[in-house]
Amino acid sequence: MKKINQILILLSAALFLSGCNLSKKETVKKELFGTYKGSEVYLLTLTNKAGNVLKLTNFGARITWLEVPDKDGNKDNITFGFDTFDGMIAGDRYYGAVVGRYANRIAMGKFTLDGVEYSLPINNGPNSLHGGPEGWHSVAWNTEILEKAEFPTVKFTYASPDMEAGYPGNMNVEATYTWTDNNEIIIDYMLTTDKKTVFNITNHAYFNLHGAGNGDILDHQLVIKGSKFVPVDTFLIPTGELRPVAGTPFDFTTSHTVGERIGEAYDQLIFGKGYDHTFIFDNAEEVDATVYEPVSGRFMEVISDQPGVQFYCGNFLNGTMIGHGGKPYIYRSGLCLETGHYPDSPNHPDFPTTVLNPGDTYKSKTIYRFTVK
Ligand code: BGC
Repeated sequence: MKKINQILILLSAALFLSGCNLSKKETVKKELFGTYKGSEVYLLTLTNKAGNVLKLTNFGARITWLEVPDKDGNKDNITFGFDTFDGMIAGDRYYGAVVGRYANRIAMGKFTLDGVEYSLPINNGPNSLHGGPEGWHSVAWNTEILEKAEFPTVKFTYASPDMEAGYPGNMNVEATYTWTDNNEIIIDYMLTTDKKTVFNITNHAYFNLHGAGNGDILDHQLVIKGSKFVPVDTFLIPTGELRPVAGTPFDFTTSHTVGERIGEAYDQLIFGKGYDHTFIFDNAEEVDATVYEPVSGRFMEVISDQPGVQFYCGNFLNGTMIGHGGKPYIYRSGLCLETGHYPDSPNHPDFPTTVLNPGDTYKSKTIYRFTVK
C-alpha cells in the first residue's frame, strides 16, 4: 500500500512538472516571419497568465503587437505594427524597434571623441537620426527564449561591428523583453564596447490606447514627471538650453491632454510641429510618466532609469502607412515615450554623458505597465 502511494506521488509529481513545462512552452511561441539579408526573422508571441499577448520580432528587436483589455474587458492591439514581414520592411522600420547606436539626432552627423571626428549617415535634413537608415532597427538580432524565466521572456542580442554606421567600437547589445502577468513590458538593455564610443538606446513603440489605428491620441491625458525639457532648433537639434516647463505648454507635471495646448503659438511647438522633445525626468518618484485614455479606461505607466524621454506625438504621420488589420496610421494617431539620453549629447559636453568606455557595461531598464481605471 505504502509503495502504491509512493508511486502515485511520483506519478503526480511527474505529471505536474510536465504540465509546467507545457504551459511554459505555450507562453512563448516562435514562428518564422520572413528572412532579411539571409537571416531568419521570427515572430514571437508571448502570452501571460492573464491571457494577454505581446508580439515581438527579432527584426529590430521590436514590439509589433500588444493586446490588452479595456475597462470592459474588450481586448485590442494598442501599438503600431504590420501583419506581415513584407509590410514591415516596406513600412516605417522604427515602429516598436530598439533604436541605436544613437537614438534621436546628431547634428550634421558629426561628433568628436579624443580628437577624432566621426561622420555618420545623414538621413534627416542635415542630421543623422536613429543610428542612420540601417541602424539597429533594421537588422535581424539573435533570438533566445529564456525558458527558465518567471514570465515569458525573450532576449535579443546583436554584435554591432566597429565603425558600423560610422560609430567606433565593436559593440555588444542586449535587449531583453519580459511580459509579466501584471501586463508590464520590462525591457532590460545591456551594452558593452571594445573602443571608446557613444550610444543612446531606446524603444520606439507608438501607442494609441483607443487601439492602434482607431483615431488620434489628442485626447490622451499625459503626465511626465519632468520639470525641464530640451528646446530645439527648427531641425530638432538641441540649442543647449534646458528650459523649465512651468508656465509653458510643455508642463505635463500635472495631467493635460496631448491636444489641449498643442496648437499654441509657442516657439518649441512651432519648431517641433507639435511635441517632439526630450523631457528630463525629475526621478523623484517611481513612475516617470503616465498616459490615460478615458474612453477605454486604459492607463499606461512608464518607469525608467534613463535620464529622460522623447515625447513624440506622431506629427509626421500622414495616413500613408497601413498597419495591422489594414488600418492607416493617420496624423497624430500614435504617441511615443522613448526613454533615453538627450539628443545630440556627444556635441553637448554639459549634457549627461553618452560615452561608453571599454570595460564598462551600460545597463538600463524601462517598464511600460498597462492597467485600466
Ligand atoms: C523623432 C521624430 C521622428 C521619428 C521617426 C522620433 O523619435 O523624435 O522626429 O520623426 O522618431 O520615427
